[in-house]
Amino acid sequence: MKTIRIAIDGPSGAGKSTLAKRIARELGIIYLDTGAMYRAVALKAIRLGIDTRDRENVSRLMDDIDISVEYHDGTQRIYLDGEDVSSAIRTNEVSMGASNVSAFPEVRAKLVALQQEIARNNPVVMDGRDIGTKVLPDAGLKIFLTASVEERARRRFLELKEKGLLDKTFDELVAEIEERDRNDSTREHSPLKKAEDAVEIDSTGKSIDELVAMIMDMVRKRF
Ligand code: DC
Repeated sequence: MKTIRIAIDGPSGAGKSTLAKRIARELGIIYLDTGAMYRAVALKAIRLGIDTRDRENVSRLMDDIDISVEYHDGTQRIYLDGEDVSSAIRTNEVSMGASNVSAFPEVRAKLVALQQEIARNNPVVMDGRDIGTKVLPDAGLKIFLTASVEERARRRFLELKEKGLLDKTFDELVAEIEERDRNDSTREHSPLKKAEDAVEIDSTGKSIDELVAMIMDMVRKRF
């Protein structure tokens, strides 16, 4: 049997992480949230008072940063210089900062190498923006998950509200998502792009159970 490596890419808020987690659980393999790594870099910059758009200073940070992941009861925890920052990376400020730092090739090179190292040793479901195109070009299954901007803003709104982190109106969230989409898909290095051999799925109006069933069906055929 081929080692299971599944790439799930797509824009922010399309439901990648919820879906990837469920698929990983069904298959009993690990889920790697690569966005968390870019968020950890952004968090470090923000804490040090470095502008996340400042390529030179952000790149310099990469020489002395320790990012690692651990799994506790199957759930990913992310560590920045030894500290568990799994919750601290979920603010809006860090989201935008992550989008900024992810444009820099110095940041990407280090994080992509780390992601590939994890995949070398484990069957994995990985989600991000460049998994099918760059990180795991040989993945046996590649999904490109999309959803309308309104649907994505609605999900984000509910998620932030649930966590007590809601500090934006719905319209502000729409504008923010559009800005991140623009950033992520127009950057020079590894922009968000569907891999040629990826299956595109629009999650708008589909339940998570429906999506899981669709993908598990593909998994059974591919591996
Ligand atoms: O998936 P996320 O929202 O946590 O990702 C945060 C930012 O990191 C996102 O704006 C784009 C960037 N990112 C990336 O460039 N490549 C990845 N593989 C994952 C995330």
